[in-house]
Amino acid sequence: MKVYLDNAATTPLDPQVFEAMLPVLKDGFGNPSSTHAVGRKIKSLIERSRKNIAKHLNCAPGEIFFTSGGTEADNMAIQCAVNDLGVKHIITSCIEHHAVGHTVEKLKRDGLVELSYVHLDEKGHVDLQHLEQLLSVHPKTLVTLMHANNEIGNLLPLQHVSEICEQYGAIFHSDTVQTMAHYRFDMNVLDQVHFLACSAHKFHGPKGIGFLYVNKKNQINPIIHGGAQERNMRGGTENVYGIVGLSKAMDVAFEGIEAHQEYMIAIKEYMISRLNESILDVSYNADSANMSKSLYTILSVSLPPTEIASMLLFNMDILGIACSGGSACTSGANIGSHVLTGIEAPMDRPTIRFSFSRYTTIQEIDHTVNSLVSLYT
Ligand SMILES: Cc1ncc(COP(=O)(O)O)c(C=O)c1O
Repeated sequence: MKVYLDNAATTPLDPQVFEAMLPVLKDGFGNPSSTHAVGRKIKSLIERSRKNIAKHLNCAPGEIFFTSGGTEADNMAIQCAVNDLGVKHIITSCIEHHAVGHTVEKLKRDGLVELSYVHLDEKGHVDLQHLEQLLSVHPKTLVTLMHANNEIGNLLPLQHVSEICEQYGAIFHSDTVQTMAHYRFDMNVLDQVHFLACSAHKFHGPKGIGFLYVNKKNQINPIIHGGAQERNMRGGTENVYGIVGLSKAMDVAFEGIEAHQEYMIAIKEYMISRLNESILDVSYNADSANMSKSLYTILSVSLPPTEIASMLLFNMDILGIACSGGSACTSGANIGSHVLTGIEAPMDRPTIRFSFSRYTTIQEIDHTVNSLVSLYT
């Protein structure tokens, strides 16, 4: 049996998304910037997709800028905030994705910003009191905090944080790569959020396409030059079949979102109960097993120390199970997970991250838990 439980890394393409992309791949070769009919037809696909995505998020189509994915969207938000919105100080956490972490570190190295790391509580959640303390002494701040952590699943109270940022006049960007199309986003309600990042391949869309939501209150300039695409905001011929696939993937995700959520919550709860009854001394990193404070697609399992710790993932792979993992690293060492280190996960306990999709089955969970148990006996 082959089992894929690495959906936080990427998800398989939904067949309906494939069907939607196929005609564009086959015949939609026109350049959307061409003014002739062949080009105009393709351009209309882009604009139709943008409108459709905006409808899902209850925002204006002009607030959606297509990018090559989550990494570019995060880079764009952060760099534009510094280049164009007068940001001199950035508040972030030590457990952000590298698309955020490395970008803010580079800006600091270049002397463009001061950088502060907000404290995390014992469950790995952002300490909101500390966030307020930092905001109260630093004007012209960008706060960049992810909605759900891709390794442990901890969720940020997005609206509450956006309100805090608004109170202190700060710009707020959230990396929503793991949560977009897994939860509903109403940008009319979340109107204090300035930027959100999205990547299609995290919800059964194609790779290499995503977008940055930019609240219309922000006037920003491009970071990629060389063309007038995306209303002069991002040079480069558009990834049209990707854009069409992204739009369709959102349709499919939102069409059945309540049922998908309910299904995956049941899958995650089932895995927790199977692990609890099968492995003595199993535990969960940060708040990963707390269903109300973690993303329902991610379970970060902390396993008892074992001599075969470094071989666990390899052995799971041999048994046909795709999952991912890691361990905390000692200070100064470059290996290991900065997230597990950031939440001070015990170094002697191996971690496996299982991440689910609407295609995951109970049988696959059973097979996975049984296989893990076999490696421990
Ligand atoms: C939280 C988070 N941010 C950003 C990214 C990067 O997205 P992309 O692969 O589309 O560049 C990922 C992908 O793993 C992610 O999990």
